[in-house]
Amino acid sequence: MKTPRIAEILKSGAVDTDIVVKGWVRTKRGNKNVAFIALNDGSCVGNIQVVVDLSKIAEEQLKPVTTGACIRVDGRLVASPGAGQGVEVQAERIEIYGTADPDTYPLQKKGHSLEFLREIAYLRPRTNTFGAVYRIRHAMAWAIHEFFHKNGFTYVHTPIFTGSDCEGAGEMFQVTTLDLNDVPKTEDGKVDYSKDFFKRPVNLTVSGQLEAEAMAMALGKVYTFGPTFRAEKSYDTRHAAEFWMIEPEMAFADLNTYMDTAEAMTKYVIRYLLDNCPDELAFFNQFFDKGLIERLELVANSDFARVSYTDAIELLKKNDDNFQYKVSWGIDLQTEHERYLTEQVFKKPVFVTDYPKEIKAFYMRMNEDGKTVAAADMLVPGIGELIGGSQREERLDVLLARLDELGLKREDYDWYLDLRRFGSVKHAGYGLGFERLLMYVTGIPNIRDVIAFPRTCGGF
Ligand code: 4AD
Ligand code: MG
Repeated sequence: MKTPRIAEILKSGAVDTDIVVKGWVRTKRGNKNVAFIALNDGSCVGNIQVVVDLSKIAEEQLKPVTTGACIRVDGRLVASPGAGQGVEVQAERIEIYGTADPDTYPLQKKGHSLEFLREIAYLRPRTNTFGAVYRIRHAMAWAIHEFFHKNGFTYVHTPIFTGSDCEGAGEMFQVTTLDLNDVPKTEDGKVDYSKDFFKRPVNLTVSGQLEAEAMAMALGKVYTFGPTFRAEKSYDTRHAAEFWMIEPEMAFADLNTYMDTAEAMTKYVIRYLLDNCPDELAFFNQFFDKGLIERLELVANSDFARVSYTDAIELLKKNDDNFQYKVSWGIDLQTEHERYLTEQVFKKPVFVTDYPKEIKAFYMRMNEDGKTVAAADMLVPGIGELIGGSQREERLDVLLARLDELGLKREDYDWYLDLRRFGSVKHAGYGLGFERLLMYVTGIPNIRDVIAFPRTCGGF
């Protein structure tokens, strides 16, 4: 017999059928005559209630059925007389797949803090909160692929080992097979990379953008969706050392094309979530963020704001007394500034455009004024920066001048420069931090709690 998942059983409402359910015990309670087991199989927020008639199944046999145990129940699905559930399973046979010793199983009943659960990342998927987080993570990944697929983008895979520092921030994890206790040196005392695995210095990628640009210069519209790595010494709630990024790149596109696409994508995935994960959203709305669903509805239905960096600075100056970091033209916006703009001034997502070139990466297209670049960050309430992107510098001479100005070596960007030598065209793209998006749509305040096995500065 096919074993339906609990989500299907609860949804279908069909009763008076023979049924098999398999899952993990959340709780067991009852009296001398009857036992009630709440069983969860990870398919939905809800449990199914299993009712055991102790005249049919000996109490002794039920002893090992404790919180955390994995069991199979053969029985009959019936309408439930009790409040709180539409159907229940009358057990005829229970098989125990795996017990969970109540003295040592850490997840007894409920009410564990997120901090405690982080210590047992391998067990926390079994809690309501994390089951819902991981199902939403899946749904969002699916919706993102669906959006790009429907809009004619090709999904491309860019390498994880790279030799370049896309963001030019030097926040890279170096990869080597050299013996760190006995590093080979050249005659002038430098590390002899000719002895290393790749015969050159190599790091984990901070962004797939440069390779995505190469693909876009042939396929037209591409996107990546993969892991990226940053050695940022940040202990806050928004930075992970390993996180997933979605990076679309479009030929024949400018800054407005990027912002229009990013806005359409954000609305699409939020609408998908509202339509497909109502139970998970209701759960987060109840336990994490009382305004969550209302806010998501608003975002899905409203136009995002757009403001230039220069105008944003003027708006921020009005509130300068309340900021820890004082505001003046040229500063890099801090989270407090970003959140003020999106939460207090615009009260919705906002693109801040045309930043000073000094605070942005080398590849961003220079504006006519020679001072700002065609970049935009998308800021959202509760998070700050969710997306960063730009129109790319497609003019070889301007890009060369910019590399020189920043003291970056031309030979390190050889192939990237060739893209400007052969069939160059204006193009644009952006990077969406997948975990930031998940924090935004769940109301979960810490990035460590939207990724299954988080890796952050200071250890894991
Ligand atoms: O703004 P960033 O650094 O942009 C880039 O990497 C570009 N190459 C993207 C592109 O244009 N193709 O990063 C993009 C996004 C940020 O807006 C943020 O959401 C997320 O990636 N992000 C992080 N998320 C979690 N932990 C970190 N340490 C992050 N750093 C960036
Ligand atoms: Mg950024």
